[in-house]
Amino acid sequence: DCMSSRQLKKLPGFIDTHVHVREPGATHKENYASCTAAALAGGVTLICAMPNTNPAIVDEESLILVKKLAKENARCDYALFVGASSENTTTISDLASEAAGLKMYLNETFTTLRLNDLNIWNKHLANWPKRTPICVHAESQTTAAIILMASLQNRPIHICHVARKEEILIIKAAKEKGLKVTCEVCPHHLFLSTDDIDRLGPNKSQVRPVLTSPEDQQALWENLHVIDCFATDHAPHTLDEKLSDKAPPGFPGLETILPLLLNAVNEGRLTMEDIVNKFHKNPKRIFSLPDQPNTYVEVDMDEEWVIPEAMLYSKAGWTPFAGKSIKGSIHRVVLRGEVAYVDGQILVQPGFGQNVREWEKKLPNLLSEISRPPSMLGLDRAISPSPYHGFMD
Ligand code: NCD
Ligand code: ZN
Ligand code: ZN
Ligand code: ZN
Repeated sequence: DCMSSRQLKKLPGFIDTHVHVREPGATHKENYASCTAAALAGGVTLICAMPNTNPAIVDEESLILVKKLAKENARCDYALFVGASSENTTTISDLASEAAGLKMYLNETFTTLRLNDLNIWNKHLANWPKRTPICVHAESQTTAAIILMASLQNRPIHICHVARKEEILIIKAAKEKGLKVTCEVCPHHLFLSTDDIDRLGPNKSQVRPVLTSPEDQQALWENLHVIDCFATDHAPHTLDEKLSDKAPPGFPGLETILPLLLNAVNEGRLTMEDIVNKFHKNPKRIFSLPDQPNTYVEVDMDEEWVIPEAMLYSKAGWTPFAGKSIKGSIHRVVLRGEVAYVDGQILVQPGFGQNVREWEKKLPNLLSEISRPPSMLGLDRAISPSPYHGFMD
């Protein structure tokens, strides 16, 4: 048993606000059962699922469909994004209270939801409620453009997968001016760069934003204080797909993010506090996510291992981090009092996971019945005037 004479640390359940589950529409790449098994194996107890599925989640009908699929098949807790399209500018905000947030795709990537028209951006920025996040795929000059347009309407904006020096510096400058911008960085932009393209090959290494130069990568590390969240952008495509000439962009990441972060703590590049802040507290605050009661992760800071060609649970069947030596592993994950994962084994079934946006609907009854502190009940969302207090951690 790996518990004997090991240094185990207890950490909160981690929250990954950028996950592509692929169900409905591409379940050969991933589905709710496999994706949430991968999440739990990676110490992630709550995922926010992206809307670029097939059908895409852009209206009530598609949201009802994915809510049913997730309810039946998820093993960990979740919230569901809805997507901005050029057709739903006046209707999508009706679903805001049920959604993790609104996702807007402003550059070329693996999606049918790309928005090119500035007038459409502005309509979404105006109509989506300010207390619920808008997350954007916005690279390079698009980062600057969307921060300006959101600021002109005095509304918060969350920048997904910041990868380049120019992007983190724009966000830093915007935060210094007091603008309501938050951002996330992915493990593949922190731990991989253009130096890894030879090893991965030109097709497998495709991802959006692309792998960037060591200089860009260094700028992310130097500006760690500007980064609010770590998020995987878990974007599984199968090995066959990734080896083809038309390789779709995207990397799986759920099973490797926490080991990579723990290894960085062991190397002295991060602190445990950085991990808890950027992979639990800040995502929870920015997305107004409730506490998951009796939920925690036990990690072994001393176990040394090498990332294999494929991790156990994602259907992707490959990982861009294969071959990397890691010190630090996940021993056990407890979700709402149940042991969900221990030493390689998933112990909760599809259907155990819950939609945390449905917890909040039950609030009025709970409020009168129970006298536990509000944070135990997921009341943060209901009682704080705005989730966007304090943009820098
Ligand atoms: C994502 C996907 O495959 O869904 N791909 C990617 O390269 N990141 C889409 C996205 O997040 O841009
Ligand atoms: Zn063990
Ligand atoms: Zn993206
Ligand atoms: Zn993504």
